[in-house]
Amino acid sequence: MTNSIKIKKKINKFNKKIRVSGDKSLSIRWVLFSSLANGKSTAKNLLLSEDVLAAFNAIKKLGIKSKINTKECVIYGKGIDGYKYNNKLILDAKNSGTLGRLILGLLINTPKIIKLIGDKSLSKRDFKRIAVPLNKFGAKIKLSKQNNLPLTILGSQNLKPIKYKENRGSAQCKSSVIFAGMRTNGTTIIKAKKSRNHTELLSKHLSLPIKIKSNKNFDLIEIRKVKKIDKLNYDIPSDISSAAFFIVLTALSKNSKLTITNVNINPTRTGIITILKKMGVKINIKNKRIYKGEKIANVQIISSSNIKAINCPPTLNSGAIDEFLIIFLVAAKADGISYFKNLDELNQKESPRLFWGAKILNKMGIKTITKKNSIKIFGNPNLIINKKIIIKEFLKDHRVFMTSVIAALTFGGNWTIHDKDSIKTSFPKFLKLINKLKK
Ligand code: S3P
Repeated sequence: MTNSIKIKKKINKFNKKIRVSGDKSLSIRWVLFSSLANGKSTAKNLLLSEDVLAAFNAIKKLGIKSKINTKECVIYGKGIDGYKYNNKLILDAKNSGTLGRLILGLLINTPKIIKLIGDKSLSKRDFKRIAVPLNKFGAKIKLSKQNNLPLTILGSQNLKPIKYKENRGSAQCKSSVIFAGMRTNGTTIIKAKKSRNHTELLSKHLSLPIKIKSNKNFDLIEIRKVKKIDKLNYDIPSDISSAAFFIVLTALSKNSKLTITNVNINPTRTGIITILKKMGVKINIKNKRIYKGEKIANVQIISSSNIKAINCPPTLNSGAIDEFLIIFLVAAKADGISYFKNLDELNQKESPRLFWGAKILNKMGIKTITKKNSIKIFGNPNLIINKKIIIKEFLKDHRVFMTSVIAALTFGGNWTIHDKDSIKTSFPKFLKLINKLKK
């Protein structure tokens, strides 16, 4: 069976209402928090993607039972010290940096050596960034030669709290250290560059001993040892990072309108909305509400012409970190040269995304100037593609695949895009939803 998709035609105009899948960050965090809770936790609208299934598998190996069901998922937590497992345990984080890094924080006191492995893409990613702070608590993490996976972790029963400065804007590093702080006597203090704050919001919702002071660029977080986590029943809101593909599809299509319901618009995640609005994309936020600390709303997008180029302020980078590939497509249609800078973290993702962003645009006939951590995109509002474009060998990066599909549906051309299965990582229903807009 072929694992590529061919697209030869732009999408026709549409006017629809859709709901995209549950938020990946929240789904993985729900699994991890619930695995340490007392009793039965339930989740509705949990994202059932490979990253989240890898989290279920990991907690299963740690002795925690669960039930996976499209209507409702259940985890039977055995309390904060409830993990039980055999010697020589191997956990597989598959493609998920979030799972791989966050779970290490929870394993900081493991009395037995655990090996952590991942797929080809994850095995190329940096784990030193999390091994360094976790080893300061007293754990022993040994990395493979290139600072990657596979790694082994041996915890300590004599953990010491640390002071940690998180300078990259990495929510994974911040969250992993928060988890380690939850297992450590004393007060762990984190000064973190702004990044998504779901771990903090869930901790507050669960009344865990966490204090947060925010200023403009940094958050100061204090976390003390957690004795008990209450069961966590959660209705997962939709993922803005999945909505992003449909936001751009609508913005770049003619005479179309789309409402995406129940989207998590946590301000640490809405960089794409701020950036696209600055570029002249018509987006309306409707029916705002709060759910367990998270902001939720319906997002309405209307086809937009006269797209303006942007000199993107780096303060917006962290809130749009998973969305740059798709934002670059909007820049390709803009009138003028767009500039995105300080994007070192973009090359630390499932594939080197700055490189892949430029590659897709160049294949489309858009000029770019790419440096180590920046890209200039020479937009062309009149771009029409008539040629063949093949996208392959991108380390199965789900966001490279989905961005290419949106490019094909909005700019035209004759596209063959490989590794369709990559959508299973974060958004298995992506192509089904695209087809829904075609009907
Ligand atoms: C995530 C944090 C981000 C993001 C990833 C999910 C999380 O990674 O890119 O998709 O859930 O904490 P970094 O922490 O590496 O920036």
